[in-house]
Amino acid sequence: MSTILAILLAYLLGSIPSGVWIGKYFYKTDIREYGSGNMGTTNTFRVLGTKAGVIVLIMDILKGSIATLLPIWLGAPIHPLFAGVLAALGHTLPIFAGFRGGKAVATSAGIILAYNPLYFTLAITCFLIYLYFSSMVSFSSITACLSAVVISLFMGDFWLTIVTIALTTYIIIRHRENIGRIRAGTESMVPFGLRYKR
Ligand code: G3P
Repeated sequence: MSTILAILLAYLLGSIPSGVWIGKYFYKTDIREYGSGNMGTTNTFRVLGTKAGVIVLIMDILKGSIATLLPIWLGAPIHPLFAGVLAALGHTLPIFAGFRGGKAVATSAGIILAYNPLYFTLAITCFLIYLYFSSMVSFSSITACLSAVVISLFMGDFWLTIVTIALTTYIIIRHRENIGRIRAGTESMVPFGLRYKR
């Protein structure tokens, strides 16, 4: 029973479309109609500004973290990372937003934050370094995920590596339009780092 509850709650938690709801209820805007069309943190910053972006970032990270801790809190005999993955799935295919979801980057960050804070810190450091040099969140997300796979090999945790490989593959697939824009040199940049031109 606790396993079913943990699985269900993890998916439902991930399904909370933070960006869509914040946009709809506080800004009367469906962020999926603007910018990149994504409902994630980056597009919230882009379309609604810093305040909304920070709130969505925190909410999306929390979704991953809380889902990962659910099996422990509920005493469910499933691996915490499995529950975290369900939240990432919920974020990309949210039942509360017509299954039109995001790319699972912030939610995945939340998973590893709750599971292994050292691993999270190393991955985020990679992300920030890549962001400094590229000024592109999509590029930095993809390369940080690939770096996280390599870092996981040194963590000595079999399931962490497997889940990182699975999430990285999924995140890259979710970024296929971004990859096309990066290759074409048309990907949007954030006002941070070396390549951003004011
Ligand atoms: O977290 C998603 C990010 O990597 C890219 O977002 O809106 O530029 O497609 P976006």
